Amino acid sequence: MKIAVIYYSRTGKTKKIAEELALVFRAETARVVDKKDRKGIIGYFKAAKDAFLKKEVEIESLSLNPRDYDLIFIGTPVWANGVTPAIRTYLKHAKIKNKKIGLFCTTHISGTDTSFKEMISLLEGNQIVAKIGFTAFDLRNFNSVKERLKELKEQIIKE
Ligand SMILES: Cc1cc2nc3c(=O)[nH]c(=O)nc-3n(C[C@H](O)[C@H](O)[C@H](O)COP(=O)(O)O)c2cc1C
Repeated sequence: MKIAVIYYSRTGKTKKIAEELALVFRAETARVVDKKDRKGIIGYFKAAKDAFLKKEVEIESLSLNPRDYDLIFIGTPVWANGVTPAIRTYLKHAKIKNKKIGLFCTTHISGTDTSFKEMISLLEGNQIVAKIGFTAFDLRNFNSVKERLKELKEQIIKE
């Protein structure tokens, strides 16, 4: 089974989960890059505005083609209780169909369910096999994150 992990990350938390998923599932990773500068406090406020308005943004083309994979993990930080503009844009244009999909997100505290709902609505025609959310509290104990991902692998891939 060919597996990919596609994610956006502004400050590295979602990237850390993506990299661990890639290790556990022996998957390839691709980072969705938002062409807008999101750094620093100004970047934060612009991000909040774009997230609140549910905007699409310009993104760089991805380093892998989702058609080449059987199972695709897609991850985003929660922004304004929804997905990031970069992941929204990617999902709207990627035309992913007939795939097994694992969703993951990181959040300070809230918005996991609403983000998954939005991602699912952008992924019609696929089979959602997992939804995993990590709060800032969860991320403080990375060993338990690793355990959750190993358990997930046992659930998804019957070896
Ligand atoms: C613009 C913006 C909006 C956010 N909105 C929320 C939110 O609605 N709820 C929440 O709990 N955390 C929110 N956060 C916090 C992020 O979801 C959290 O820090 C996430 O783990 C960051 O992931 P990253 O390091 O991969 O960028 C927001 C962060 C940003 C930058």
